[in-house]
Amino acid sequence: MSIELALIGGTGLYKFPGLEDVERYAVDTPYGHPSDSIVLGRVGNHRIAFLARHGEGHTIPPHRVNYRANVWALHHLGARRVVGVNAVGGIREDMGPRVLAVPDQVIDYTYDRLTSFCDVAGAEVKHIDFSEPYSATLRADLLAAAQRASIPVVDGGCYGATQGPRLETRAEIARLRRDGCDLVGMTGMPEAALARELELDYACVALVANWAAGCGDEIEISLPEIFANLENATRQVPPIVAALLAG
Ligand code: HPA
Repeated sequence: MSIELALIGGTGLYKFPGLEDVERYAVDTPYGHPSDSIVLGRVGNHRIAFLARHGEGHTIPPHRVNYRANVWALHHLGARRVVGVNAVGGIREDMGPRVLAVPDQVIDYTYDRLTSFCDVAGAEVKHIDFSEPYSATLRADLLAAAQRASIPVVDGGCYGATQGPRLETRAEIARLRRDGCDLVGMTGMPEAALARELELDYACVALVANWAAGCGDEIEISLPEIFANLENATRQVPPIVAALLAG
């Protein structure tokens, strides 16, 4: 049975609930080790792959994630559609805590990350078209699935990818807002670009954990609140995925 969908779970999503016939694969890649074993299993009659981006024990910070190994390993196992689930801070007024969004644009502010499979000596240099960073069909299918599952999801928005692991200053978020970012997170890139290099269909489900610095009414971002919001938003992901698989 081929893999219909791969999920890369972010902060708060370390296992896919209710997976049946689970097999774990520790994949070695030309780019090193993925964040953890890749878990294959069934949701109903559909086979999916799951990978915890930060490791199942959340031991890998965003700037140390081996994005290349993660994406390569999923592709190697046969995945062709990948949904990245990412915790984010909300910048735009309708992107407050607990909101789910399927962004349609990205601005990359990260640095010192290995951002391409072309970095290896002798590899063919590819200049991928990235004007639309996410797969239009997978985005549309996710939005339709959320609607069928009666889960409100914001359609579109620009994801600003920051280096982390620290949260941003108010001035940095003000700059991101001026740049047109609606959401801010630390893990959206280079994952999306690497997926495009391997011609995977890739889209992001962003879970808003908190107002970004200086947004909303919060003076300071509280970690317990972030985790409570994330837990709430994360619970909406499996029903969306089930609806996506059911088609
Ligand atoms: N900034 C960056 N990444 C995040 C945030 C944030 O405020 N919240 C959750 N991930």
